[in-house]
Amino acid sequence: MDNDELVELEKKYFLPVGKRLPVTLVRGEGVTVWDINGKEYLDFVAGIAAVSLGHCHPAVVKVIGRQSMELMHTSNYYYTIPQVKLAQLLCDSAKMDKVFFCNSGAEAVEGLIKTARKWGKEKRDGAYEIIVCENAFHGRTMATVTAAGTEKYRAPFTPLLEGFVRVPFNDIEAIKKATTGKTAAVLLEPVQGEGGVNIPNDEYLPAVRAWCDEAGILLMLDEVQSGVGRTGKLFAHQYYGIVPDAMAVAKALGSGFPIGAFLTLDHCSVMGQGEHGTTFGGNALACEVGYTVLKYMLDNDIPGEAAKRGEYVERRLHSLADRHPLVTEIRGRGLIWAIELAGPLAEDAVNMCLAEGLLVNNVKPTALRLIPPLTVKEDEIDKALEIIEAVLGRMEAQPAK
Ligand SMILES: Cc1ncc(COP(=O)(O)O)c(C=O)c1O
Repeated sequence: MDNDELVELEKKYFLPVGKRLPVTLVRGEGVTVWDINGKEYLDFVAGIAAVSLGHCHPAVVKVIGRQSMELMHTSNYYYTIPQVKLAQLLCDSAKMDKVFFCNSGAEAVEGLIKTARKWGKEKRDGAYEIIVCENAFHGRTMATVTAAGTEKYRAPFTPLLEGFVRVPFNDIEAIKKATTGKTAAVLLEPVQGEGGVNIPNDEYLPAVRAWCDEAGILLMLDEVQSGVGRTGKLFAHQYYGIVPDAMAVAKALGSGFPIGAFLTLDHCSVMGQGEHGTTFGGNALACEVGYTVLKYMLDNDIPGEAAKRGEYVERRLHSLADRHPLVTEIRGRGLIWAIELAGPLAEDAVNMCLAEGLLVNNVKPTALRLIPPLTVKEDEIDKALEIIEAVLGRMEAQPAK
């Protein structure tokens, strides 16, 4: 099958909910992927911040081979060694008490939402409201689209779930004003990823933590995109010296293999027997992969490496911004960056980068996002930024539309 045939078949058989770029990827290694015609690309999307150790990392390939020959799936009616190993490593490294494994980020956030509801019912006189943020993204299930800050994700599916109160991100006073006797929790991303790579000021998260303590409500963090090394710490909230009451992780934990988890401190580990569950979540194969990825990250200080590479990206992006009037702002930390452009030019820029052999995505109509594997090297960063620079140069040379 060639690329055109695949595009036609996709059109025939798939619900048209997503917008794909017209390439079929067939192979990956490290930060590089190849399409069906043999063309090579640097991958600065990394499966939406998921392929944390790079494509087909030898440790991940090896563990999938070994574990898939031993035991893949049992259901949660039984104990398995990989699940218990990963639970211990993840809870210890996250300084959390309890974990529940699932298959995706949205399911992990669902777990947080159910925890908030149950906790409010039991411990705060039936409080059920969750304060969420504008521009937030938490997934595509009914509860997580309700929690999302983006109207277009919610509008087609009304009536939505009750009990979500939306406030601007990075605004502690708004959270204070929105808190009532009905509030059970605040749920937010320490760095808003899909919302355009929005980094709060340094005081925000400590202030939210202090307010949640004062008001007697839970602080729940969605670290699905920001967690497991992406921002240069194992979890983004560690920059602020705080610990949430509960948090969601997914994406980078599997380095391309689907896995998610939500974690809680004991005081809000309220779900009991039969109140939550999953068939596939936490299966032996996914957990052995998650364990291998997390152990590799900790043993090789991958978050620290990401922080160093991030400083390099930051310097390079600042100098790019100085030279290119089309770039109005750069934002980011570690290995998640946005290049804000002077207008809705990001889709064109993505297509031009693609033609030049670079995968990036337009996280907003006006912004490109760079989220390469955490193992990206400086020469790969150089190459990617050269392509972006050439694309910007060409766009600047074009007469305005
Ligand atoms: C912060 C955040 N939460 C939740 C999700 C949903 O994760 P998934 O697509 O694995 O369901 C995403 C996905 O991009 C995310 O960035």
